[in-house]
Amino acid sequence: MKIGLYGGAFDPIHNGHVSMIEGALDSGIVDIVIVIPSARNPFKPGRSLTCAPYRYYMVKNVIEDLFDDKVFVSDIEFKISGVSYTDTIVDEIRDPSYIEEFLMSCGISPKKASASHKFFWIAGSDSLETLYSWHNAGSLVSKIDFLMAQRPGDDTDPSDIARVNSEKLGVPVNITTFAIDGIEVASSDIRATGNFDEIPEAARAFIAEHNLYEACGVLEYASDEACVHFTDVGIWMFGYLKKKRLLHTLNTGLLSAYLARCHGCDIDKALIAGSVHDCAKELPMEDQLRMARARCGDLFTEDKLLHSPAGAVFYSETYGVDDPEILDAITYHTTGRGNMTLLDEIVFLADKIEPSRTYTDLSVMRRIAPTDLDGAARLCLESVVDKFRKKGRPVHPLTEEFMKSLGMK
Ligand SMILES: [Fe+2]
Ligand SMILES: [Fe+2]
Repeated sequence: MKIGLYGGAFDPIHNGHVSMIEGALDSGIVDIVIVIPSARNPFKPGRSLTCAPYRYYMVKNVIEDLFDDKVFVSDIEFKISGVSYTDTIVDEIRDPSYIEEFLMSCGISPKKASASHKFFWIAGSDSLETLYSWHNAGSLVSKIDFLMAQRPGDDTDPSDIARVNSEKLGVPVNITTFAIDGIEVASSDIRATGNFDEIPEAARAFIAEHNLYEACGVLEYASDEACVHFTDVGIWMFGYLKKKRLLHTLNTGLLSAYLARCHGCDIDKALIAGSVHDCAKELPMEDQLRMARARCGDLFTEDKLLHSPAGAVFYSETYGVDDPEILDAITYHTTGRGNMTLLDEIVFLADKIEPSRTYTDLSVMRRIAPTDLDGAARLCLESVVDKFRKKGRPVHPLTEEFMKSLGMK
């Protein structure tokens, strides 16, 4: 099988990317294309890229919407620890134990999946001009051929680019071209202008659902360390949380950071506590119970509540973080407690009103939260308690204490 590999940040994926994929397939040179969103920026860690799971799922939504069975998305970059270069990615993806399983998971018959494959790296002419400077380029060009996209009017001769690279590297370089539409668009411009005209509908819907680029704006006010940690915990939880839960917990982190900025709370702590607040929710119940007991004894007994204290323990054990404010905000995010700290209240509320939440009309809570946190928390508690009463579920004594502290009955 001839397999095109198309890597990038896709922040966001736009119509230029789509035309690259279409052009590569239409050329007939490759049978399928595997799109590989990057996990980290090797040159600028932290806030330079939108946290990886958002970009991965945005790309996946677009590919599933626009292409049937010839384009797939790989999360291979999330599995490479540390910095991943094209060379590393190509090695990992060509590994028979990876590619066979990946192709079969995409519905490609075992016979085709286990056949021998030829790989092509898809790129624009500008980046291939300096291919010789890529990490381990001499080794890379011996493993893979290159597919160079050519826009209408681009008369770059691929054999010139191949010759220059070949001379510099001292080994042959194979470059083939394919034609693409002349869409001139850059992700950085899209982010800067907020003009989403040139991005596919599914990406637009994803950005709107998570209020993505507006929400990420708060990272400007967080420290470099917190931004790097935000990326790290996103990649960590990507490994075991389902899509909806993962995006919810990251959204909660970004909204917590925003509310922290509005109310003079520590932005870094809010970002991190919010981001990992549901990190234990999909662990086996016996693990949740053990961790919850270790943190709070028998304070939480209901299954649905265990993940809160368990999350504090799980995060703390994984990252060696023992900041009591962060761990308390995670522990009490479901119930609240009497004498809530500002950080507790922010994470509690952000969890209930982050942009992808739709369980009830949240418009008033969302509108007032930046200026009246207690007011928004009261509305939120009224709605939660009302739901509990309708279902005949008891309200947790900690929640009653929280309500009392806000002057509620
Ligand atoms: Fe939760
Ligand atoms: Fe949550």
